[in-house]
Formats: sequence, structure tokens, C-alpha cells
Amino acid sequence: MTKILMVCLGNICRSPLAEGIMRSKLASDDFFVDSAGTANYHVGNSPDNRSIIVAKKYGLDISHLKGRQFNVLDFDQFDQIYVMDESNFKNVIALTRNDEDITKVKFILNEVYPNQNYSVPDPYYGGDEGFENVYKMLDEACDNIAKKLNS
Ligand code: 4NP
Repeated sequence: MTKILMVCLGNICRSPLAEGIMRSKLASDDFFVDSAGTANYHVGNSPDNRSIIVAKKYGLDISHLKGRQFNVLDFDQFDQIYVMDESNFKNVIALTRNDEDITKVKFILNEVYPNQNYSVPDPYYGGDEGFENVYKMLDEACDNIAKKLNS
């Protein structure tokens, strides 16, 4: 079982979308996909409505997901930890205990633009088009991850 964790700041906009998209591209018998936020603002909350709506538009139901905060034990639980932006990267790296932890942490957009460390923009304070944009970026990145894992 390969375990993948998607991480953003609040765990209500970007990472629940990434979780839903990634899960839809992998066989549930072989892969476990989860998401978390580096902050605790939205622990126990449902995803942002705008994420729920854009996911639904593409046939995915993420409405049942609940926010949780990333914690150091996630390094033991997960094989790959994909962060959305540089701030998430710094916050997750700050919790690493050893080189093995560090090698698990990756910028998700490096799966599309290798070594560029580009960010998935935080759509929280923007309009609906931000969520559509985020969906498309994450869909492309998750496609590439799935191709690698399924090959
Ligand atoms: P996310 O977006 O990190 O993609 O879930 C955000 C959600 C909430 C906040 C910031 C970003 N906030 O400040 O509450």
C-alpha cells in the first residue's frame, strides 16, 4: 500500500481537492490518499464550498472530507507528502526529524514542472475562477503522479 498525503495551509481549499483528484486516479486497494493543513484554523471543517462545487463539476464528491492539521507522525504514515506552496514546504520541512522525512516532501507542481518549485496559488481570498484554475493544475499534476505510480 502506497500512502500519499496532500498538504496546504487550511486543508479546506487546495489539499482536499488534490486528495479527491488523486484518489480518483488510483486503485483503492493499492493506494491510500489523505490531506492535511499546516494550520489548525479549520480542523473538523468541511472543504470550502467553492472546492466542493468545482470537484462536483468534474464528477468528484469531496463534501464528506474534514480538515485536520499536519503532524510529525504523518512522516511515519505516508510515503509521499505533496505540498501546494513554498510556505507549506517550509512549515512541513520544519517538522522533519531526519533525511528520510525530508525526501518524502515534494512540491506537487514539480510533477508538471520539474525542479521549479512553483506554487499552487491559494484561492481562498479570490473568486470562483481561482478554484477552477487550481483544479486544472492539480488534475495535471495528479495525472503525472498516477502515471508514474501505475507504471
Ligand atoms: P487552503 O486555503 O490552504 O488551500 O485550504 C486556505 C484556507 C483557509 C485560510 C487560508 C488558506 N485561512 O486563512 O483561513
